[in-house]
Amino acid sequence: MIAMNRINHFVCYLILILNSSSVFAQKTFVVKANEIKASIQPTMWGVFFEDINLGADGGIYAELVKNRSFEFKKPMMGWRVLGITKTEGDFQVLNRQDANTANPRYLQVTLDHATHDLGLTNEGFRGMGIKKDLRYDFSFMYRQRASDIKIYIELVSSKGETIGKTIIQTTDTGNNWEKLKASFIASETDLKSHLNIWFEGNGSIDLDMISLFPTDTWKNRPGGMRADMIQMLADMKPGFIRFPGGCIVEGYDLSQRYQWKKTIGPIEERQLIINRWNTEIVNRPTLDYFQTFGLGFFEYFQLAEDIGAEPLPILNCGMACQFNSSELVPLEGLDPYVKDAIDLIEFANADTTTYWGKIRASLGHAAPFHLKMLGIGNENWGPQYVERLQIFTKAIKAKYPDIKLVYSSGTDADGERFNYLNTTLRKMNADIIDEHYYRRPEWFLANAKRYDNYPKNGSKVFGGEYAAQSDHTVSINNKNTWLTALSEAAFMTGLERNADVVSMASYAPLFAHADGWQWTPDLIWVNNLQSYGTPDYYVQKLFSTNKGTKVVPITINNETVTGQDSLYATAAIDEAENDVVIKIVNASEKQQNHSISLEGINSVAAKGKLIVLKSDQLYSVNSFEHPQNIAPQESEIDIKGKKIQLNLSPYSFSILRIKMK
Ligand code: AHR
Repeated sequence: MIAMNRINHFVCYLILILNSSSVFAQKTFVVKANEIKASIQPTMWGVFFEDINLGADGGIYAELVKNRSFEFKKPMMGWRVLGITKTEGDFQVLNRQDANTANPRYLQVTLDHATHDLGLTNEGFRGMGIKKDLRYDFSFMYRQRASDIKIYIELVSSKGETIGKTIIQTTDTGNNWEKLKASFIASETDLKSHLNIWFEGNGSIDLDMISLFPTDTWKNRPGGMRADMIQMLADMKPGFIRFPGGCIVEGYDLSQRYQWKKTIGPIEERQLIINRWNTEIVNRPTLDYFQTFGLGFFEYFQLAEDIGAEPLPILNCGMACQFNSSELVPLEGLDPYVKDAIDLIEFANADTTTYWGKIRASLGHAAPFHLKMLGIGNENWGPQYVERLQIFTKAIKAKYPDIKLVYSSGTDADGERFNYLNTTLRKMNADIIDEHYYRRPEWFLANAKRYDNYPKNGSKVFGGEYAAQSDHTVSINNKNTWLTALSEAAFMTGLERNADVVSMASYAPLFAHADGWQWTPDLIWVNNLQSYGTPDYYVQKLFSTNKGTKVVPITINNETVTGQDSLYATAAIDEAENDVVIKIVNASEKQQNHSISLEGINSVAAKGKLIVLKSDQLYSVNSFEHPQNIAPQESEIDIKGKKIQLNLSPYSFSILRIKMK
């Protein structure tokens, strides 16, 4: 209610202001295509993947079984025993801590002449999304000291129907763990199925890493990622991908920080930890949120390569989350953290004769990943951060002078903390400074000029996390409305115009599971089977896929267009396509009819491409039912000589692509 009031308040405010000048006089946007103002970095528009809102487990990591290795805090979370146990202790979670520190727990099932009447069920991540006619790969690790046991695998739909099944026969393995696989085809599509495992036989069997994967993963990689979600990223053609967070890099305390070395190699050896978002948002507790690391650093690098994005890993800087425990590693204890950073560069880039290069090759990627940037700390601040940064920087630059380091400027883009870091980091000749802005739409509109007076030389800015908040930061009432998206588009014209200051930008957070989110708004919403892009997604995608390579001026009355009559504009040349690319936001409630004059070009094609994203309802949204409610529409536009008549719809974001001859 409060949220809606605030939105209405803002909309009324906007309309009031705009109504005061009832008609907008016709104006001319002048584009000077031969006056190069700045180069737009290939990295300009990217994505920030963060394991929040079931982003990894339950999200892009396509594993359907929750708590597959019984390592959650409550070992049987996600599991339930089916049937009637005959003896106390027929199902026991055992801990072999000494023998296996990474994956200590397993389930021991003791069968007393079971006849398909005793079993287990796994609920999945808010159910399991199953597709008709698709093959599913079931697997598990087991150890058995009994003759033959038969295991019946059944997928059961939300209607209670069996929609896939297979049978596995296990045999005595003595003391050895073995892996068994079986596949089956699903007969129905269902959003919330579950998996039953029934036993038949006599004796004892130990189970671990019980897993079920769809086979239509991204690039059909076994045990891979959800293709629909990755495709949405690939479609954005992001210049970079930042990973794996976010606050999970820092952890609630240092024991829960993200440690990349524990996320590579055989999945059964990747040590699970709790996800920091498990209990972070009090009114959105997600007690089953853990990080199995089935998706680890090798997979992130591979993903970056797949979608043509520069990898940007962020590492812990020796500080736990300053909203949580604020634990610090003493400066004299920082070496292992620094070593993790140096080793990561070797892992990503070095040849296969090196220790970490050899490990990368053993994982299936002999060629380097060409890492060029590395983030030290996520959203850290204060002199404690600076002290640690200095140590990291000295060590990394001594060995890898060409690696660009990304430093945090804290949680907010102004205030004392920001000013201290912004000044200090610039004095340190920071390569790239990461700024975060989670603010209301008004802020985004007002800040389209933010970078106009930033220093052009020295440190570059990375707008590493931003999203207009329809209510307020960390409010669970925030929505991805057309107003939030439109205000981001206006702000982004300012980022592009200042591409000599801002070299990278990414919206945050990226993904949210409709049944398991903690933070909103988010760029892409998913359930167990579908994903859709918010209006904000289309803004990001349009900027990225119409990026251009050189900024050129676009003015009205010789002034940059930064909110006059609620118009915001930027222009660029796309050298590869030989196009002029013009982006204009009309944030007013009125249609505005203006002309564009192209200067500094000999001639242009008689038709241009016009892409428009619009809605006359500022708080309309996209949804699973109406994913394209607000989506780009393409058409042709006439060009007369070098003049274009452009009718800008109310509340619209328009992109024009014009071929130069
Ligand atoms: O994106 C949500 C959170 O916002 C990130 O984890 C953190 O970096 C920021 O505070």
